[in-house]
Amino acid sequence: MTPKPLENKVPKHVAIIMDGNGRWSEQKGKHRVFGHKHGVNALRKAIIFASEHSIEALTIFAFSSENWKRPEQEVNMLMELFFTVLGREVKKLHKNNIKLKIIGNISGFSERLQKKIHAAQLLTENNTGLALNVAANYGGRWDITDATRKIAQQAKDGLLAIDEIDEALLTKTISLSELSDVDLMIRTGGDYRISNFLLWQLAYAELYFTDVLWPDFDAQAFQQAVDVFSGKERRFGQTSEQVNS
Ligand code: IPE
Ligand code: IPE
Ligand code: MG
Repeated sequence: MTPKPLENKVPKHVAIIMDGNGRWSEQKGKHRVFGHKHGVNALRKAIIFASEHSIEALTIFAFSSENWKRPEQEVNMLMELFFTVLGREVKKLHKNNIKLKIIGNISGFSERLQKKIHAAQLLTENNTGLALNVAANYGGRWDITDATRKIAQQAKDGLLAIDEIDEALLTKTISLSELSDVDLMIRTGGDYRISNFLLWQLAYAELYFTDVLWPDFDAQAFQQAVDVFSGKERRFGQTSEQVNS
């Protein structure tokens, strides 16, 4: 049986759990903040890689709904970093035709940060290049709950019959409904878990875990993940024979 041509196997939608900043710093005898700052450089490289390899969407986990439990000083610093990086990089993203979207419970952020987020999204909303989604104050369970609440409201308002609630409707209501499901999910930092990232949208993603710590993740490491993805046969419940016929 002839295998499908390779170009069919480039992931359209890649999601990344950018983990390992703290350990990277500790290995260097530095404060955790140092790793987060270097993590921004790795993110820049990942965005360039995605843009240059015709990946349509890149969704990155920047701050989870559980990360508020970290020491106050680290949380404050991460908020400050998010604010600074948004301000500093958004023009560059715009120039490169990248469409930026923040997913998560934005209302949990300071007014100042919320304004910055809205301005950045507004500036880039008509761009047609890479869709860059930043998950911030995001949790997969929050996302499903939020979609459920919206659907319940529509039903309560008489806009929807209970029978009309199906998987397609939830998919249409949840974050990233404008995009196809995640094809490839990469987690750096050596742990094998999802940590409440995109639970619904990852249903059929290929999962790739690497020991590389996020600040060291570069084009070569990204290429390796894509190569492993390309070698996979995605069956979506069918048999190998069906997929190849
Ligand atoms: C990921 O790196 C970045 C965020 C969660 C914001 P970590 O800070 O979790 O790094 P480790 O896991 O402690 O090494
Ligand atoms: C996941 O990393 C969240 C982000 C990368 C933003 P964590 O470091 O918070 O995950 P756990 O707590 O080890 O599962
Ligand atoms: Mg971590």
